[in-house]
Amino acid sequence: MTATVIDGKAFAAKVRGQVGEHVARLKEEQGIKPGLAVVLVGEDPASQVYVRSKGKMTVEVGMASFTHRLAADTSEADLLTMIDQLNADPAVHGILVQLPLPGHLDSDLVINRIDPAKDVDGFHISNVGLLGTGQKSMVPCTPLGCLMMLRDHHGSLSGLHAVVVGRSNIVGKPMAQLLLGDSCTVTIAHSRTKDLPGMVKQADIVVAAVGRPQMIPGDWIKEGATIIDVGINRIDKPDGGTRLVGDVDYDSCAAVAGAITPVPGGVGPMTIACLLANTVTACCRAHGLSEPEGLTA
Ligand code: GUN
Repeated sequence: MTATVIDGKAFAAKVRGQVGEHVARLKEEQGIKPGLAVVLVGEDPASQVYVRSKGKMTVEVGMASFTHRLAADTSEADLLTMIDQLNADPAVHGILVQLPLPGHLDSDLVINRIDPAKDVDGFHISNVGLLGTGQKSMVPCTPLGCLMMLRDHHGSLSGLHAVVVGRSNIVGKPMAQLLLGDSCTVTIAHSRTKDLPGMVKQADIVVAAVGRPQMIPGDWIKEGATIIDVGINRIDKPDGGTRLVGDVDYDSCAAVAGAITPVPGGVGPMTIACLLANTVTACCRAHGLSEPEGLTA
């Protein structure tokens, strides 16, 4: 079997198009412009690239973008004051504090200072609890993007066995909750799982989110399974230079799977698209308006 390639780049463009249409309607019918504030502390090069890209795409879909760049030695008190100001600002519907933060700042304290209704990352402890109990919440962007692609490919996910490899708070755990919400049978596997190959072999859906390049080979995969590869790892090429690879070994997995997301061009582009979707959702909820269909969990 040669797997269907799930084109995350095209899917993300479609999601951004839907977000753009909803933003235009909000402006036209309600006179409301959704706004996203992104806070970057320090000068981590990868974070700078992400933040620039988030700002650019926010503007492209017609929303207001507020980027706050703070010095690496910003005090916790000053950062919390900025978050309080953004919480109180009616032009700001979504707030994202780019992670990782410099070591002297307590990430949990900072994230939990964000108004949960504006927490478009879905990292606030209230949103984590709401998701875990099946209540309406803000949902982390990467797992939301994975869910959208799975729903699009399968229609119903009900009864399928999903094995999520990786137990992070940002991807693995919320991914498992979302799949449970869609009536999958869910296993969370990780580095200490006994017989990881045997466990993955049982999966109708594999979500790989371990952060280890090409860790999952094709002979772990059940014939026809769907593979969602969340990994983005830069490795050296034998002839010099580098390239991006996922957490699964693409060529051997694509030979066995029914469908697979490539790296790059799979999950990656969906994450920012879902951030924009979450911002529109937050804006609609803030104004008591109906939410955009198909852009929430
Ligand atoms: N750094 C890398 N990915 C993310 C993300 O999804 N949200 C935030 N806030 N920081 C990140």
